[in-house]
Amino acid sequence: MALTRPYAGQAEAWADGAALAYGPLARHLVARSPFEVAGVRALDAGAGSGAAGDALRAAGAQLVSADREPDMARWVAGPAVAADVTALPFRDGAFDLVVAAFVVNHLPDPVRGLAELRRVTRSGGAVLASTFSVHRAPAKGAVDQVAARHGFVAPAWYADLQACAHAVGGARVVEAALAEAGFVRWTVVEEPVDLGLDEPADVVRYRLSMPHLHRFVRALPVREAQDLEAEAVEAVRATGETFAPVVVEAVAIA
Ligand SMILES: C[S@@+](CC[C@H](N)C(=O)[O-])C[C@H]1O[C@@H](n2cnc3c(N)ncnc32)[C@H](O)[C@@H]1O
Repeated sequence: MALTRPYAGQAEAWADGAALAYGPLARHLVARSPFEVAGVRALDAGAGSGAAGDALRAAGAQLVSADREPDMARWVAGPAVAADVTALPFRDGAFDLVVAAFVVNHLPDPVRGLAELRRVTRSGGAVLASTFSVHRAPAKGAVDQVAARHGFVAPAWYADLQACAHAVGGARVVEAALAEAGFVRWTVVEEPVDLGLDEPADVVRYRLSMPHLHRFVRALPVREAQDLEAEAVEAVRATGETFAPVVVEAVAIA
């Protein structure tokens, strides 16, 4: 399956909007580390603008970040490389802890990616990986529907990306992928994570910074973009639900 590179050039938008949701999600994942993070050699793989890396650094890890997109790698604080998680430029066992927040769900071959994350983790070290469950938060659909009323049509790459995400959108399938990737033991939890985003406007700001929607909204006349945003806020409010996406989180021991 051929995916283009939808995250190219998106570092600022990701840091500005998506991080509202991905920051708390990263902290939730990092908190699952089976050992003290202070002092460990850690890799934030598929770092984006550095949500997980920030949590790792705050906890005292010696951090390196990697992302396929050079502008993401430039954006993050500290040492970083532009690299693919399926072919990382690190020796075997280089890290005690590898965090892959919402990147395995981007891979056409998630087992290959997980095996590479395992390779760079020392024996007895841990890989923390998260994906979204196929059980989609209503707020996401609410914003997407408003965008569609304004003419948004999902690009083909987004359908490809969703197919990748669905393939690892559940605890059982992630467990099967971990086994195939050669991990020796793991815990996988699939549950809603309350991000503390109580304001519908913040949920909309996060959602509209996703690469597929961000490019569309940015191309609209300013007035129409403002209308879309206001309607999306009302649509999220109308769901009547706290925004708590269902997330699959894996703690896998190498
Ligand atoms: C959904 S974002 C998550 C970013 C960050 N981990 C976070 O939680 O905010 C996915 C990130 O993975 C990166 N990515 C996608 N495929 C990748 C690959 N094969 N190798 C490395 N990075 C990849 C994208 O460039 C993007 O920055």
